[in-house]
Amino acid sequence: MNTIFSPSLFSQFSRVPLAFLPTPLQPAPRLSAALGGPRILIKRDDMTGLALGGNKTRKLEFLLADALKQGADVILTAGAPQSNHCRQTAAAARQMGLDCVLVFTPGQHDEMQGNVLLDQILGARIVRTERSDSMAVMQDLADELRQAGHTPYVIPVGGSNAIGTLGYASAMHELVGQLAALDVAVSHLYFSSGSGGTHAGLLLGQHLFGPANMRLVGVSPGSKSEAILDKIATISNEAAQNLGEKTRFLSQNITVYDQFVGPRYGISTPQSLEAISLFAENEGILLDPVYTAKAAAGLIQDIRTGVIRENETVIFLHTGGNPALFAYRNDWAKA
Ligand SMILES: Cc1ncc(COP(=O)(O)O)c(C=O)c1O
Repeated sequence: MNTIFSPSLFSQFSRVPLAFLPTPLQPAPRLSAALGGPRILIKRDDMTGLALGGNKTRKLEFLLADALKQGADVILTAGAPQSNHCRQTAAAARQMGLDCVLVFTPGQHDEMQGNVLLDQILGARIVRTERSDSMAVMQDLADELRQAGHTPYVIPVGGSNAIGTLGYASAMHELVGQLAALDVAVSHLYFSSGSGGTHAGLLLGQHLFGPANMRLVGVSPGSKSEAILDKIATISNEAAQNLGEKTRFLSQNITVYDQFVGPRYGISTPQSLEAISLFAENEGILLDPVYTAKAAAGLIQDIRTGVIRENETVIFLHTGGNPALFAYRNDWAKA
């Protein structure tokens, strides 16, 4: 571990405590046995807290601190109706005493269930748009809010920018500490990679804190890899630059699988449903249908095809999303 770059490196950035950290690193021996494969450890970022948990809590610690520093009284963000990012942003805003506006782009299960229900309970103002450029819609709403005397703060889709990504650079430091305590070497880390901020932060964190030989494998929930790789590199490079780091991350050195997407974002596949059952029935752990189930499908296939060897240790980063399970109940009725 590179001791020069302790998390005090991040102290130049404000951070509000929203997450329950460290999240557990839980062994999954029954799942390992069921797959006849390697040792599996599950990093439980579904347990970060903040209105049912998930990966966005870590990003929001940095984003909300920036918003408060700028004197914001209302937070805007965007996503699909079942966006976990929107739900967690609404909760984070409330915890900080701020209002929240959520811009919903068209997507699956826009009904009073799962995250949509929780957004309503959290009292977020919901604006639905058919426009594809949600950032432009948010900027228009922010202008209106300014004219009405408010100070809006716009968070991009997924909280994925150079500020939010620090949450996952710092998560890598936490993970490295947990691995050192267990005295275990890990060959692979699998996780869902959507808007890129989690992946970018993990890359930066690995550069800062190690372990250098752990392969990071992001699994796309919807987009083609090409659409994500450049974004991940851009975010990690910008964040590195803000930290005074000279390193350059290149998209050709980043791994994102897109073969587990199925028909499209938000639609379950036989592999994702199997992954949910395997985690639930062997470990009592719930995956979400949109992100973690597809990431776990990637992990499962790589175990079955020998990409990950039996004598290795792999981490699955559980990024949360469980509220969406309730909206996807019909996927089980069909199964
Ligand atoms: C549960 C869950 N996992 C993973 C992701 C992907 O994270 P990122 O957008 O940082 O790539 C998201 C994004 O919304 C999510 O909600």
